[in-house]
Parts: sequence; structure tokens; C-alpha cells
Amino acid sequence: MEKRLPPVIIDTDPGIDDAASIFWVLASEKFDVKALTIANGNIGLDGCVTNALRILEVAGRTDVPVYRGAYRPILKGPMDASWVHGKDGLGDAGLPMPTAKETPGYGPAEMARIVRESPEPVTILALAPLTNVALAILLDPEMKKNVKEILFMGGAVNVIGNDTPVASFNAAVDPEATYIVYNSGIPVVQLGLDICDQFTETDADFERLRDEGGPIGGYLYTMTEDWRKRSSMREPSRWYKSRQDGIGLNDVATTAYLINPDWFTCEDVACDIQLGGIGAGQTVVDFRGWWKKEPNVRFAYEVDSAAAVRQWMDDIIRYDHRQ
Ligand code: RIB
Ligand code: CA
Repeated sequence: MEKRLPPVIIDTDPGIDDAASIFWVLASEKFDVKALTIANGNIGLDGCVTNALRILEVAGRTDVPVYRGAYRPILKGPMDASWVHGKDGLGDAGLPMPTAKETPGYGPAEMARIVRESPEPVTILALAPLTNVALAILLDPEMKKNVKEILFMGGAVNVIGNDTPVASFNAAVDPEATYIVYNSGIPVVQLGLDICDQFTETDADFERLRDEGGPIGGYLYTMTEDWRKRSSMREPSRWYKSRQDGIGLNDVATTAYLINPDWFTCEDVACDIQLGGIGAGQTVVDFRGWWKKEPNVRFAYEVDSAAAVRQWMDDIIRYDHRQ
């Protein structure tokens, strides 16, 4: 009998690092990807939907449905990080426009439906602001019964933020959604900047993908070309993570946990979200137990990033050469 693969929903705002992660999940061939649900984040919602379809088409997986989600965070206005990801959100690298269409349906409702109907608990790989995930939780009180875990690319505990001094982009864009998810009772693994900052994908890694891979490897090289050239990201700083020999694809670091959690060292902690003021979106951990609260989050703080990056490249190169 054919073995059933573990079900996964990817909530995403593609985004170069989202693309690199979606390619990895598909290339690993270890998961049943039930859907991509799309959030506003790196660029506007329309662009993110188009990019999800482009990514699936390059990967030859137009069978995976793409559902449009919320067009803006719960309280804040729509966000945009095209200064990192390029005007089209995928590095303006000429990825072909999609021929496939998005699937009718509303992202959070479809997420809740897929979870409800699944014969086994579903993992949510959350690579964007948590708006869609929070709305799904609010839509369906049954949701928490059948989610295995939410793997979140967000949070900054012992490192500096990348959107505000204390918050990661995905948490700062929608602090209210982050609060809802972290306090939902669903197991959350925070795979935020504490581990993302330990990752570097070097120029040599991208050359290897281009030279040994196929279409996906080639696009990963061209998509990141402009980002890799930006000298400001390469100036050494003692205060925040800068990289002299490459870039850090944050969503790939988070996806590494889905591929192999054994690469990570984690601690279960009580964690809450700052909702207003200059600290909005900060993930605050009570390491000393002052709050007398049970742990609600598995906090990842160390990772064997070299092993993860090697596997990311190996999987993509192998998939690029599949028959
Ligand atoms: O902090 C980086 C994160 O924000 C990544 O998920 C990136 O794609 C953006 O969503
Ligand atoms: Ca993302």
C-alpha cells in the first residue's frame, strides 16, 4: 500500500525566500501539500497570488490549489517589502507569468476546511504575517483539534528585529494576528530571527544551484542576484546580522524545521506578543517564570544551518533533474 504523506498547508506572501521554501517543500517530495493560502506581506495580495501560481508552474505542480487570503492585516494597512524582493516580489528575474488560475475560495475558510476534513493532523507552515491563520482560527473553533503544529517564520527574542528594533517583519505587520495564534492553544513553533540569523546562503551556493541544477536552480540564482549585490546588507555590524558572503533566506530557515526538526534545539516557553507602541509585534518570552504561565510556544534558538542549507540545495538539484 502506498504510504500517505503528512499533510501541509503553506501560508505565504511570495517573496523570494517564500519561493525558495516552496520549491524546497515540493522538491523534498516528503509532504502532501494541500494548498497555498496567500497573505499580503512582501508585496500586495494580487502580486503574491500571481507569484504563488508562477512558483507552482516552474515546479510543475499546478495541481496544488492557490487560495487568496486577507488583503491586509487585522488592524494595520497593507504592507510592502518590495525594496527587498523587487517590484514583482520575485527579484524581477523574469519568471514566466502563470497560465493556471487561482482556485475560487477564501484562504482562511479553505484552511479551516482542509484542517477539518483531514484524516490526520495538518501542519501549517506559516511564512507570512499570520493574518490568514488567525482568521481561520476565529472562523472555526474546531480548528485546534486537528492542527499538528504551526511553524512560524517570525519572532525575535535574543536578537534584534528586522522590521522594528524589537520585532520581526511577519510579527510586526500583524501583531494582533500573532497574538491570536500564540494564544490559540494550537502548538506553535517559533522559528524566527533567532535561528534565521544563523543561516547564510552564500554566493557559491547560488552558483552551485545555477550550475548543477535546472530551471529552479537557475531561477534561484537570478531571483537573488540583485539582493546579493546590495552592498548595504554586506557592511559588517556588531549590532545586527549582516552577511559578507551571501544572504539569509529567512523562510528557508523556518522550512528547515519541517524538513528535519532534528537540526534544531528548542525550549518550550511562555511567550506573549506586544500589541502597541514602538514594541508592537515583539515576542516576549518569560524565561524566569514570573508570569506563572504554562509554555505555549516551542522556541527554536539553535540550528545546524550548514546541514540544512546543504539539504536544501541537494533536494532542489535532484528535483530539477527528475524525469
Ligand atoms: O522577516 C522576513 C519574513 O518576512 C519572510 O517571511 C519574508 O518573506 C517576509 O514575509
Ligand atoms: Ca514570507
